Amino acid sequence: MTGATSPDRRRFLTAGAAVLGAAASAQLWRPATARAATAALPDGLFSLGVASGDPLPNGIVLWTRLAPDPLNGGGMPDTAVPVEWEIAEDERFRKIAGKGTAQALPAYGHSVHVDVRGLRAGREYWYRFRAGGQLSRTGRTRTAPSWTFSRGSLRVALASCQNWQHGYFTPYADMLAQDPDVVLFVGDYIYESTPASTGPRRHEGTGEPYTLVEYRNRYAQYHTDPDLAEMHAHAPFVVTFDDHEVDNDFAGEIPQDPGKQTHAAFVARLTAAYQAYYEHMPVRATAVPNGPHIQMYRSLEFGRLARLNVLDTRQFRSDQPTSQAGAQDPSLTMLGAAQKRWLLDSLHGSTARWNLVASQIMLAETDLLVGEGKLWYYDAWDGYQAERNALLEEFTSVRNPVVLSGDRHLTMISDLRKDYADPSSAVVGAEFVGTSISSNGDQDQAAFRAQWDPLRADNPHWKLIDAHRGYHLFDIDRDGIDAKVRVVDTVLRPRAAPSTLARLRVDAGKPGVHLA
Ligand SMILES: [Fe+2]
Repeated sequence: MTGATSPDRRRFLTAGAAVLGAAASAQLWRPATARAATAALPDGLFSLGVASGDPLPNGIVLWTRLAPDPLNGGGMPDTAVPVEWEIAEDERFRKIAGKGTAQALPAYGHSVHVDVRGLRAGREYWYRFRAGGQLSRTGRTRTAPSWTFSRGSLRVALASCQNWQHGYFTPYADMLAQDPDVVLFVGDYIYESTPASTGPRRHEGTGEPYTLVEYRNRYAQYHTDPDLAEMHAHAPFVVTFDDHEVDNDFAGEIPQDPGKQTHAAFVARLTAAYQAYYEHMPVRATAVPNGPHIQMYRSLEFGRLARLNVLDTRQFRSDQPTSQAGAQDPSLTMLGAAQKRWLLDSLHGSTARWNLVASQIMLAETDLLVGEGKLWYYDAWDGYQAERNALLEEFTSVRNPVVLSGDRHLTMISDLRKDYADPSSAVVGAEFVGTSISSNGDQDQAAFRAQWDPLRADNPHWKLIDAHRGYHLFDIDRDGIDAKVRVVDTVLRPRAAPSTLARLRVDAGKPGVHLA
């Protein structure tokens, strides 16, 4: 489904900004009409900061969540609280582009999602919230370029896998300095793991989250990372989830350890996890969960330059195979029939120069066996090869497909080939697996090389593999994509030195990727 046609499903979400002309500029922001009713609210309502997401040419989602006691359920009274919002064309809020009042409801953890429309394409905006006499910080965001945009460039940052306990989210400080138009986050926004004392930071709570309150506390803790909070306040995010937002390696309604819980218990966990995910992400009302279901796959347009198809590779997949033969079972699905149809329609119906696919998990093959024979990871697309290969076959008739993935906690940049069983088969696209923000911490690079370099001959489609923490940055224009692998020297301290590890290039009309 496209973001542009999202129906608003819940009346509490304020849709459609009141668009004001320049005449309304420079007015002082008036206090909330309901101020008396909310005057007793605790201090620190905006401890989780602000965020924006899913940019359209004329709109953006603005997010905040009122949580004066973020790690202990939020600390809000059990009542609805009106939250004023405003968005302006300038940092000083002299030229107001829209404003209104949203209701922060206890049922949604006092989160606020405002789907602002009526904005101008391809430009910066500033926004802020006010509740109970308290003012949020100011956020900055950017709308998508106009429908006709084709000659300019778009800067996209690809991030994933931010384990609080493995490190500080230092790559975001560098990402902020690079000023991307949009940040694509492809999963593992939180980790559900139990608090441990072995890393530089410790998860809140006493165990894995299962209930809504427990997931809220975990998300709240992640939002307090200062570099992540700054990044959210600086650029729009486009997010999707992978497994750790719920449970390691889950598949649909099947948990990692089916023997350790009833189906009903896992459905309750999914329901809580998706609810908390929605509450903490800058996503449209289309993503309001319906019990243990959430609609995340969608596409976003960046003019005629790029269409971004965001996948959901968790909710609709078959359970992971457990053998090499199982990985080739044609009855297994990763996307499910409806999403697969949607994706193929989107790819083939696109007039965009670049057709980007955000996949949580790696599409290209990873052969883990040195020499004769193959050994695959079953949780990634390698475990669902019939569907993967069918998709790669479709790529031969798609304009400039490029896959952006995560999960692996490594940089892995590959040519996509039609058939990995045949090393001479056609190259049909490129894939960037964007390492991790902090997961796996500061890896021993020599140990990584010793383990992975011997596999390179078995995986000739790999153009670059690396184990530093960081993210990928793409400058996309009609002729090509210039990619940088941006890394940091450490995530074990709050500040780090960033650098460019490698530059790569994808040329339009020429499938594959090469070192620049
Ligand atoms: Fe991860």
